[in-house]
Amino acid sequence: MEAEAPGKVILFGEHAVVYGRPAIAVPVFGVRARAVVTEAPPGSGLTVVAADLGRRVRVRDAPQDDPLALAARLALGALGAPEPDVTITVTSSIPIAGGLGSGAAVSAALIRALGAALGMGFELSRLNELVYEVEKLYHGTPSGIDNTVVVYGKPVYFVRGRPPEVFGIGKPFSLLIADTGISSPTREAVAAVRELYRSAPDKVEPILDEIGDVAEAARKAIEDGDVPALGPLMWRNHGLLQRLTVSCDELDRLVRAAMDAGAEGAKLSGGGRGGNMIALVRDDAIGRVESALRDAGAVRVLHTVVSGC
Ligand code: MEV
Repeated sequence: MEAEAPGKVILFGEHAVVYGRPAIAVPVFGVRARAVVTEAPPGSGLTVVAADLGRRVRVRDAPQDDPLALAARLALGALGAPEPDVTITVTSSIPIAGGLGSGAAVSAALIRALGAALGMGFELSRLNELVYEVEKLYHGTPSGIDNTVVVYGKPVYFVRGRPPEVFGIGKPFSLLIADTGISSPTREAVAAVRELYRSAPDKVEPILDEIGDVAEAARKAIEDGDVPALGPLMWRNHGLLQRLTVSCDELDRLVRAAMDAGAEGAKLSGGGRGGNMIALVRDDAIGRVESALRDAGAVRVLHTVVSGC
């Protein structure tokens, strides 16, 4: 018995989405988390093995704040099922703390696999609620966009507190996703913006408003298939994120390198201060931009096509 969940990138609106502005995110199927369930000896209970992290968590003994154990407990609670004697092995090709939704994808795959092993599936909306509960451990005050896009596996337009809207992609487009190699927990970047907001709300509010306007304009452009309009919007969004202090030299270097090599637009993606950036590229520029990103220090570059799935 096994289950999977994809990674994600935020195209527009990260951070501002925590403050009620809209954001747009898409799944990335080139990286994913996978959970495999195997039977364990009678009486041994439920164990989660995170192979990549070298972790083995016996759910009944784990502390309350262990995210793997919490995901398993939430799933059992939601299903009203007793603890089964199984081992769930979780693996993930999604870089950790890189803004690609690794935590949400691991939780989603794990909960899905446990449900399947018990012969009971989850409605997507219920699964989304459970993964969100685990996200709170990772992120503190998550907006909910990461779990939503990872669970639904579709492009989403997201406003905190409202049902997510899956929207259409008028014309597919290519992104390169480049990793600075700097691990940057989202929780810390979100806390830094919160501090900035507390110290100068009158300066931060207009930045958040403008990011929201950019995300609205981007949704329309994506639905209309107006890909050329997206590049300048990405560039503008990156500048606004710099003003929120969530970029860093390494991200700025990759964004600049992508633009100089012919990308249509580029910006950091996710929490920032490390992690990943995205570049919008025409097909004939993919090789050139990818080389430029590697030369500028990217430790890994993924190519993904954003389409309606
Ligand atoms: C993280 O992928 C996106 C942030 O906007 C945080 C959140 O929405 O919870 C930075």
